[in-house]
Amino acid sequence: MKQWLACEPTIIESGRGFYLIDTRGNHYIDGISSLWCNVHGHRVKKIDDAIKKQLSKIAHSTLLGLAQTKSIELAEKLIAIAPKNLKKVFYSDSGATSVEIALKIAYQYYHNKGQKRNKFIALGQSYHGDTIGSVSVGGIELFHSIFKPMLFKTYFVPSPFPYRFNDTAEQCKKFTLDKIEKLLKQHSKNIAAVVVEPLVQGAAGIIVHPKGFLKGVRELTKKYDVFLIADEVATGFGRTGKMFACENEGVQPDIMCLAKGITGGYLPLAATLTTQEIFEAFLGKPDEFKTFYHGHTYTGNALACAAAIASLELFKENKIIESLPAKIDLIADYLKRISVLDFVGDVRQCGMMAGIEIVKDKKTKKFFSCDKLIGAKVCAAMRPKGVMMRPLSDVIVLMPPVAIDLPLLRKLLDIVYDTIKNDLPKIVK
Ligand SMILES: Cc1ncc(COP(=O)(O)O)c(C=O)c1O
Repeated sequence: MKQWLACEPTIIESGRGFYLIDTRGNHYIDGISSLWCNVHGHRVKKIDDAIKKQLSKIAHSTLLGLAQTKSIELAEKLIAIAPKNLKKVFYSDSGATSVEIALKIAYQYYHNKGQKRNKFIALGQSYHGDTIGSVSVGGIELFHSIFKPMLFKTYFVPSPFPYRFNDTAEQCKKFTLDKIEKLLKQHSKNIAAVVVEPLVQGAAGIIVHPKGFLKGVRELTKKYDVFLIADEVATGFGRTGKMFACENEGVQPDIMCLAKGITGGYLPLAATLTTQEIFEAFLGKPDEFKTFYHGHTYTGNALACAAAIASLELFKENKIIESLPAKIDLIADYLKRISVLDFVGDVRQCGMMAGIEIVKDKKTKKFFSCDKLIGAKVCAAMRPKGVMMRPLSDVIVLMPPVAIDLPLLRKLLDIVYDTIKNDLPKIVK
């Protein structure tokens, strides 16, 4: 905040297509999809119209003890595209709440079945949001360590991260899966669920898991009879090349968390999807106290649901998923060229999510000291060239809206390449 206050702030006033426009009229390609949530661009007629139409009916009514037409319609649409075992939708309003709800559902499911399971297994450097439950299963020291005294105890296993572990993908995968199995062997009677960001840990700096890792976690959770919670908040809605990351490995989680791209990036909405079996464990007479006492005022907001329905229709109409391979290949081509540039330690990609890790020394993989703010300065250098990016420490995160067209994606990648090639060496001096 101190640095931000010392700078001239950029204030966004409007948007058009894949551009953000500031109060001075400068245009920027939205290179991080307004924090990983924008899908079809800004001011998309179909979504704008859907919200306006809903506004002429009702903006919001509670889902506590009531239903609302748009929330029903959206739930049906989500279940139709989700992994086949998922049948029920619990709404909320942010990624963090969708995870908070998943944890509480897993815990209370076992409670309702007469078992005490209050522990979770999570990956090191994972990120599931900023509420206390989500932080308790989060592993990013920079964000989370200060809150440790407030958190519940979670079993963490190292993230399978070949670049930083100096090991092959297969070895990393085996190492982490073995650790998970060891914990499950010892504690499965107390463990409610294993929580993962499927395929890619976004906030950790786009750590892409070795192929088959997610499937391995699913097999272990089945073997030891604990739930698998897939946090698809960042990976859902086309980010990994499929509608959901789990599809890439044919995995059906017991609980799936959705937010960010669910409304096309328009309005706050989240959903926690579960199986029929989980749903039924919460049914009972009032004096059995099986009710899931969790609700937010704006849960399942009608305007947000209307936006989400329009967004899902656009996925079909514009064949968004079918259009992704060409864009993913283009990003891969540029990353290959970027990987050989000075100070680029690693490039990582999972579909439309990419990370470029800047290091002081390519051989030793040593970081620049954090006070140099190299990542922030690289992104700042892109702004006058018309690109809006935001780093995670010294990882430059590239996360364009999934519906971006190829020529604009190429323009964005040209600017990223040019900045890392020509500006970065001056920035680090
Ligand atoms: C995997 C994952 N889960 C949860 C969240 C939290 O989402 P929100 O910021 O909407 O609470 C994020 C946000 O980046 C995320 O990447």
